[in-house]
Amino acid sequence: MAFPTHQLRAFLRHLRLAGNRHSVHSPFVFSLVEEALRQRSDSPRFPDLEKLRGALLKDARFIPVTDLGAGSHRTNSPERRVRDIAKSALKPKRQAELLHRIARYFQPRTVLELGTSFGITTLYLARAAEQGQVITIEGSPGIHAIAEQNFLTADQRNIRSLLGSFDERLTAVLDSIEQLDLAFVDGHHAKEPTLRYFDQCLAKAHNDSIFIFDDIHWSVDMEEAWEAIQVHPQVTVTIDLFHFGIVFLRKEQQREHFRLRY
Ligand SMILES: C[S@@+](CC[C@H](N)C(=O)[O-])C[C@H]1O[C@@H](n2cnc3c(N)ncnc32)[C@H](O)[C@@H]1O
Repeated sequence: MAFPTHQLRAFLRHLRLAGNRHSVHSPFVFSLVEEALRQRSDSPRFPDLEKLRGALLKDARFIPVTDLGAGSHRTNSPERRVRDIAKSALKPKRQAELLHRIARYFQPRTVLELGTSFGITTLYLARAAEQGQVITIEGSPGIHAIAEQNFLTADQRNIRSLLGSFDERLTAVLDSIEQLDLAFVDGHHAKEPTLRYFDQCLAKAHNDSIFIFDDIHWSVDMEEAWEAIQVHPQVTVTIDLFHFGIVFLRKEQQREHFRLRY
């Protein structure tokens, strides 16, 4: 894995400070670690979704890309190869499986993903929430079109896939749902918009809602966003897994911030 300097420093710090499941005394978090964060030999696998990922990683087509915010350290060129986007944007299999296990553990009815990309993680989430729906928003039309194709190929029906910027789409999406059970925020990796989307989503959150923020150590700006989220008055428990920050609002928990290896 090639890390820019900030991320490398943050990763080394994480390795130094992070505990394992034996350092967790909260029964709620311990059970989450045991049942969902830890990969087991019988954890679900999705070879058909990995086949889709494999095809994207080989796809040499150029597509137009609309840059909607901080999202890539690498390039802002208006046309990029599908395989290059796939390489830099898609969550790796291990992380997609982890998101699947977390969603499967909590059985959310309404999942919101900000940042679809080619929809591989969307599919992992949708397979975990078969009784519910995943709403996903992508701002780049060429990328959105390929994601839609992937949802058809995977024959996954519980996905509502929307084209548009988060700013254009989020308010109407939140108005259209009763409550938000799980939000995965994986686009526009900058402090101000991340905190703004969090605040907006909180309007539809409830005691058991879960927020997962991607790339909380991606930049100094994102570190600041993560710190602000941790001290937000509605937040009680957070878990820093380095690549993801998981946030809980459960009032019955004492305020605790975990930093874990998984
Ligand atoms: C890191 S990728 C998402 C990866 C995907 N969730 C996965 O796990 O495979 C982020 C995506 O968010 C989109 N994006 C970034 N900022 C956006 C914004 N403000 N509005 C809409 N889409 C945005 C980008 O076009 C990009 O495809």
